[in-house]
Amino acid sequence: MTLAILSALAEEQQGIFEQLEQPRRVHHAGRAFGLGVWYGQPVVLALSRIGKVAAATTATALIEKFQVSRIVFTGVAGGVGEGVQVGDVVVARDFIQHDMNAAPLFPTFEIPLYGQSRFVCDSVLTAMLLEAASAGITCASGLFSLNASKPQVHHGLVASGDRFVSAATEVQRLQAALRDAGHEALAVEMEGAAVAQVCHDYGIPFAAMRTISDRADDSAHVDFPEFVRTVASRYAQAILTEFVQRL
Ligand code: ADE
Repeated sequence: MTLAILSALAEEQQGIFEQLEQPRRVHHAGRAFGLGVWYGQPVVLALSRIGKVAAATTATALIEKFQVSRIVFTGVAGGVGEGVQVGDVVVARDFIQHDMNAAPLFPTFEIPLYGQSRFVCDSVLTAMLLEAASAGITCASGLFSLNASKPQVHHGLVASGDRFVSAATEVQRLQAALRDAGHEALAVEMEGAAVAQVCHDYGIPFAAMRTISDRADDSAHVDFPEFVRTVASRYAQAILTEFVQRL
């Protein structure tokens, strides 16, 4: 029962490889994979790079080449839901591709020939990730004071697309289009829905957490690099340490 820990960027899972027993690196499909044992669990660490295609390729390699039997994604996202603030964590309930539109052939957001717009995460892994996020966030947030309020864990829909959303007007447009079709997203990012679709195809349990790095507005690009380097890596480490011990 090998667990894959997948992120877009190295910073999003920084420090975990160093904690593995029997660590080794394998190069495949232009990517570096880190193999080892973490708290008694066989794990493969993988970096997809950015975007849905890169994420789908990496998820497929994890399943086909490394025979992983479950995948957890850790990374950062832009908060678009009400009350989803920088420093909060979103654990995905399900995913949608906000840039999928094959209308008029199929309803907007529906994945053609799947008959569905959303892919639901595995309920057991997600419940564990929710618990781990609550425990980990308390521990990691002691190190920072990002908000006046205590960081929150949110649970709901995450929207993925091949664009870094960095304007308040764009968020409004995107949210309005999603709402028109009955979807209320908490966060936007660029990989999760692709991994969810691959996991659906292979019948592999999938769960995902995202630390909110920005509000996807006009200052998103300013907040992002610094946040990923300094905060997200520690959140990921704290939450995944809690998570892996619950498996
Ligand atoms: N990941 C982190 N912030 C993001 C944003 N604003 N848009 C898309 N992906 C992101």
